[in-house]
Amino acid sequence: SSCNFRHDNHQMEPCELSANTVIAHPRALTDKITLIRDAGPSKFQVIADFDATLTRYRVNGLRRQTSHGLLQQGNAYYDAKRQALYDHYHPLEISPVIPIDEKTKLMEEWWSKTHELLIEGGLTYDAIKKSVANSSIAFREGVTELFEFLEKKEIPVLIFSAGLADVIEEVLRQNLDRTFKNVKIVSNRMVFNDDGQLVSFKGNLIHVLNKNEHALDMAAPLHDRLGVDIGEEDEENVNMKERRNVLLMGDHLGDLRMSDGLDYETRISIGFLNDNIEKSLESYRESFDLVYLNDAPMWGALELVSRLFSTEA
Ligand code: TMP
Repeated sequence: SSCNFRHDNHQMEPCELSANTVIAHPRALTDKITLIRDAGPSKFQVIADFDATLTRYRVNGLRRQTSHGLLQQGNAYYDAKRQALYDHYHPLEISPVIPIDEKTKLMEEWWSKTHELLIEGGLTYDAIKKSVANSSIAFREGVTELFEFLEKKEIPVLIFSAGLADVIEEVLRQNLDRTFKNVKIVSNRMVFNDDGQLVSFKGNLIHVLNKNEHALDMAAPLHDRLGVDIGEEDEENVNMKERRNVLLMGDHLGDLRMSDGLDYETRISIGFLNDNIEKSLESYRESFDLVYLNDAPMWGALELVSRLFSTEA
């Protein structure tokens, strides 16, 4: 289809909706591809949202679970309390009429209360493992292949989520064939005691509306960002800021702000439009360089990065 990235002398045609791919400005995209390609893989990084971006939005026709949604504390009382918070705050999260500063306060409230309940309920790492094993969460097809390609080219992937880092890590562990040393998670990270019980969270709270604020620290080494000392392993983070070409992937317009902390040179953005397609397509196609509809797999992203950095010129 015309949705493939052909470099036919900048003659790319806009894509057909029926192909599940929308490219509003193919010429601009081709120009970005050329710039990023010329700068090479050492100047490139990938920043991806987790829920409904790397993972599927629907699994077997049912709404997929998020890193929060899948978590069962093994304590019905606390699970019900967290669900009640969800029922109260989620409508506020998606309300189009609440002013942003008011909504930010509400989201801080929600995240703090949820984290408190997880601590109070004595969440264990074991419960996380079981929850992930019992969950219906699933990666989009092609995520492993995408990570593998990027790993081979030594391109870092930053998974940036307002969910729970420890749950996301367990999802990666249980659902991908292998681990990837180029994949890093920036999300809310738990501290467990010697009995394997959750006692606190590290660093600053990351909720849906400060994913961008937090990104301001992106240029800092990971241990600074998280406010913890995680040893010398993260020397490489220092040169993350030198990787000024970015592929950003998200499922909300707000995800575009994940790269705010980076003084990027060229950014290609991919938006997964999972719901309300008629209502949101216009804004998505103008905001993202590429829009994938209907829970599309990752093959398009893989094709894009292989066009960027394939060995033959
Ligand atoms: P993100 O993964 O797109 O960064 O956002 C995290 C989602 O988690 C957000 O849409 C709201 C949701 N959430 C829950 O489902 N339960 C909770 O307890 C909290 C705090 C958030």
